[in-house]
Amino acid sequence: MTQEIRTLTWLPDGGVCLLDQTRLPQEEVYVECRDAEAVAEAIRSLRIRGAPALGVAAAMGLALGAHRLQATDVTTFLRDLKGIADMLANTRPTARNLFWGLERISTVAEKHRDLSLPALKQRLVEEALKMHQEDLACNRAIGEHGQRLIENGATILTHCNTGALATVGYGTGLGVIRAAWERGKRIQVLVDETRPVLQGARLTAWELDRLGIPSRLITDSMAGDFMRRGEVQAVIVGADRIAKNGDVANKIGTYTLAVLCRYHNIPFYVAAPFSTVDLGLSAGDQIPIEERAPHEVTTIAGVSIAPPGFPAANPAFDVTPAGLVSALITDRGVLYPPFAEAIQALSGSPSVPP
Ligand code: MRU
Repeated sequence: MTQEIRTLTWLPDGGVCLLDQTRLPQEEVYVECRDAEAVAEAIRSLRIRGAPALGVAAAMGLALGAHRLQATDVTTFLRDLKGIADMLANTRPTARNLFWGLERISTVAEKHRDLSLPALKQRLVEEALKMHQEDLACNRAIGEHGQRLIENGATILTHCNTGALATVGYGTGLGVIRAAWERGKRIQVLVDETRPVLQGARLTAWELDRLGIPSRLITDSMAGDFMRRGEVQAVIVGADRIAKNGDVANKIGTYTLAVLCRYHNIPFYVAAPFSTVDLGLSAGDQIPIEERAPHEVTTIAGVSIAPPGFPAANPAFDVTPAGLVSALITDRGVLYPPFAEAIQALSGSPSVPP
């Protein structure tokens, strides 16, 4: 039995322990964040990444920051808490879950403002721990709903990392693949390397290797040719933010895959918890897209691959229009087009264990 990956955990003496994803696959190193600033640094530097994991990391970071506040009255406490939430919100702009995590902790703080400050701080830690547990249950529900769409013998192409490392555990897109494998379906996986940060090559390949699921690594530029040869039966990706109309922001390169799927008549599935849906945004063009440092493009593993000082663009995400998405696989069930109606219908309902 494969040992579960400990992506992020709460330390009982006040801290957040993270598996440092910048060091994988070479080294399995854990870092202990002892204040909210350390959690923010870990988010910015991609030690922890992936939308659902960012939601829980941000929530834990805020609970940790609250734990350390010196305020002696609730008004000052809530004001200082907002300062920490703003600091954590300024780390990465695209994943909806990060803001969802901060909003959930802030709402609980406001709601329980009548508690004593030590009790209120404890309540925030408990909420963050609850979110940790919920994420795992959510991913198992996504896996169970989604595996029904996967046929025995299929080769599935995936992009970026949507596994245990991108979540508290089990994964979203990779959770669907894993659930299909666990139910005995003889599937294979094609893993896009996912330039520039190589989440596919470094992280997804590492996870699939541990799980023993037959897989091959390909460069991003090979995907179209594998499809043309009839060697891909489905594409499954995750999401960083989904607008109300079903447009999906996800790792750069996702849009290209969706266009290729349409041309080759291959289903293009997006797996994500419902907390990735931003009901405040009507369409994908309103989703803020993170622009990262050019050196991620001009270097590989610290080695320069371009002339010194050559300019580079580095949008970390792209937006896939809802019209190219075959289905959204969520913890509340599988949604089919038209997504605006399907999202609206499920927006008030809880996670559905299959
Ligand atoms: O920049 P990253 O590594 O945080 O980007 C992650 C992705 O794009 C994932 O596909 C997405 O967050 C879904 S993770 C379940």
